[in-house]
Amino acid sequence: MRTQVVIIGGGPSGLLLSQLLHVRGIDSIVLERKTRDYVLSRIRAGVLERGLLELMRKAGAAARLEREGLPHDGALLSYGDEMFRIDFKRLTGTSVIVYGQTEVTRDLYDAREAAGGRTEFNVDDVEIHDTNRDRPYVTYRVGSEPRRIDCDFVAGCDGFHGVSRKTIPDGVRKEYERVYPFGWLGVLSETPPVNHELIYATSSRGFALCSMRNPMLSRYYVQCPATDRVEAWSDSAFWDELRRRIPADQAEKLVTGPSIEKSIAPLRSFVCEPMRWGRLFLCGDAAHIVPPTGAKGLNTAASDVHYLYNALRQYYEERDSSGIERYSERALARVWKVERFSWWFSSLMHHFPEQTEFDHKIQTAELEFLRSNEDSQRAMATNYVGLPY
Ligand code: APR
Ligand code: PHB
Repeated sequence: MRTQVVIIGGGPSGLLLSQLLHVRGIDSIVLERKTRDYVLSRIRAGVLERGLLELMRKAGAAARLEREGLPHDGALLSYGDEMFRIDFKRLTGTSVIVYGQTEVTRDLYDAREAAGGRTEFNVDDVEIHDTNRDRPYVTYRVGSEPRRIDCDFVAGCDGFHGVSRKTIPDGVRKEYERVYPFGWLGVLSETPPVNHELIYATSSRGFALCSMRNPMLSRYYVQCPATDRVEAWSDSAFWDELRRRIPADQAEKLVTGPSIEKSIAPLRSFVCEPMRWGRLFLCGDAAHIVPPTGAKGLNTAASDVHYLYNALRQYYEERDSSGIERYSERALARVWKVERFSWWFSSLMHHFPEQTEFDHKIQTAELEFLRSNEDSQRAMATNYVGLPY
């Protein structure tokens, strides 16, 4: 088999890239280790930047997002019983869109099927060869049958645990990592959201987040020890803990119900450099991870896709390789700024086991400064709505 671009990984990064390329007449094949249903069963964050909306439009996959996505002009931050609002729209002229990442992936799968795009599911033993030559190729297995695809380029969109990153030799690849000593216990419930805007809350008991998917579907999180097991958290223990971490007037309004999904996610900051090795490009979680505070995971994957899609388009349409050569540098320049924001927002809102009373006082002072200082709010809002590509 032959194609122009082999895309490893059928998550949101790989699918968005394949659709954008398709619109420009560039052929790709997506190789996914799992099934479509499995990929669509993963629940992830739900705040989208405008840049991602633009890319979904270009990919011809934005119709439902435009219909059902909830524009949010601001968000609430609370500490103890104090709460204030950051007005994104007024401070930056832009808002964000609340829409589940799982739904973005579903829309991309639907668009890809409608376009007759080729996706191979249940592939095993993917190996990438000769990315430093003009003619790379990818080998893999479906069941017991070995297969090979020859191509011009390989896009490694296979997430944090994929094979693409490890194809870059140890002596070349440098990884930067911070693992946080806690996780997020998340609950999805068919209840009306406690507030029409998101609440990022910190309290003497730690962080909590009140988010939503639609007017009858809420998504809530509480910070918990990284060692906690989800089975040990009953629904009522979760709701009690959430109530204690948000302002009393919000806790009173909280409508609880049975959880329809409950899971614990670890928090990690991670960056791999470089993001290109010859004709192999890393994209999305394959190259970087952010803690979820600020919901930058998918949005940062989208900016990589933007740079890579434009680089490939330039190569095929204008025979210009400069975008390809500069891909890693361009993508990483934005990635590190988003890493900084996600680390900052996480550090501001969570309790760290080693923190002293001094550290708590500093966190509160920073929140009070943010509350009262418009320049500081604008800096936060600028990052939250999404840095330019
Ligand atoms: N071969 C083929 N497919 C693979 C392999 C492999 N060796 N390893 C992993 N995959 C697939 C996974 O099954 C998954 O469907 O690659 C896909 C990667 O998808 P994601 O992990 O969702 O990563 P990405 O598409 O970069 O999405 C960006 O934004 O909010 C964050 O973490 C969140 O997934 C989200 C990310
Ligand atoms: C979510 O809705 O799942 C969500 C929202 C905002 C975040 C993280 C997760 O910062």
